[in-house]
Amino acid sequence: MSAGPHPALPDVLVTSRPLDEYCALFGLTRARLAALPGPLLDCPGGAAGLAAEARELGCRVVAVDPAYALPPPVVADLALAARAAMAASMTARPWLHPSPRPYRPERYLRSWDRARRLFAANSAAHPQRYVAAALPRLPFADGAFALTLSGYLIFAYPEVFGPERQLAALTELVRVTSPDGEVRVQPLNDGHGRRCGHLDPLRYALGERRIASEILRCPGPVDGRTVRVLVLRDADRRRRSAGQPVM
Ligand SMILES: C[S@@+](CC[C@H](N)C(=O)[O-])C[C@H]1O[C@@H](n2cnc3c(N)ncnc32)[C@H](O)[C@@H]1O
Repeated sequence: MSAGPHPALPDVLVTSRPLDEYCALFGLTRARLAALPGPLLDCPGGAAGLAAEARELGCRVVAVDPAYALPPPVVADLALAARAAMAASMTARPWLHPSPRPYRPERYLRSWDRARRLFAANSAAHPQRYVAAALPRLPFADGAFALTLSGYLIFAYPEVFGPERQLAALTELVRVTSPDGEVRVQPLNDGHGRRCGHLDPLRYALGERRIASEILRCPGPVDGRTVRVLVLRDADRRRRSAGQPVM
């Protein structure tokens, strides 16, 4: 715990992606977010711009992150440190990152700067939209969200989320999502680009809990490189909506 970005937090970067990068990473569009029939959960929210920017579309976002136990300026400082770590990694290991042509990491990271500033202002003005909590336990009722997004945590940090904790976290994200909604999770690899080696058994275990899963492949941000997104849904939702008994 103490080797992390802050003594109170796990060793995970607090990043600040903007709305448009979220859309590309999760295979979504602004129009789809605007049409959601209920609130969106962003877990982890980090210092992302999503909660602030999606409100402009009429989409209610609740962001969750253990970092929100800290004051917003401290979270913004952690995000600035994460930006520096990302800039260093983009220089040292460019093949792991989105690569605009010509390759301009600074240009890409300026979108993170905008998102970080939006986060700082929005979380100070509307703290109720930013809930301090940590997977695998969330302080929300069953089915509270129409759509749940989880980016750059559950598979990105296997040293923090081992297989059991991944299963518990994914199950919890499905619990707080409406049976008519869905959970989207990416990336499905770690920070070194290594694919999760136990995705099939994990999906099987989810299936045993009546959670259906599929892998979406979408063109990612900046360079269109394929991004894989794990989509989870209540396996019984058709039966439920047809009024049939659920096993
Ligand atoms: C790499 S950031 C991703 C933020 C945002 N989704 C994005 O793409 O910019 C990972 C975040 O996960 C948060 N985190 C760490 N452990 C967590 C947990 N158990 N539950 C929820 N969030 C956690 C960290 O504080 C950090 O802000």
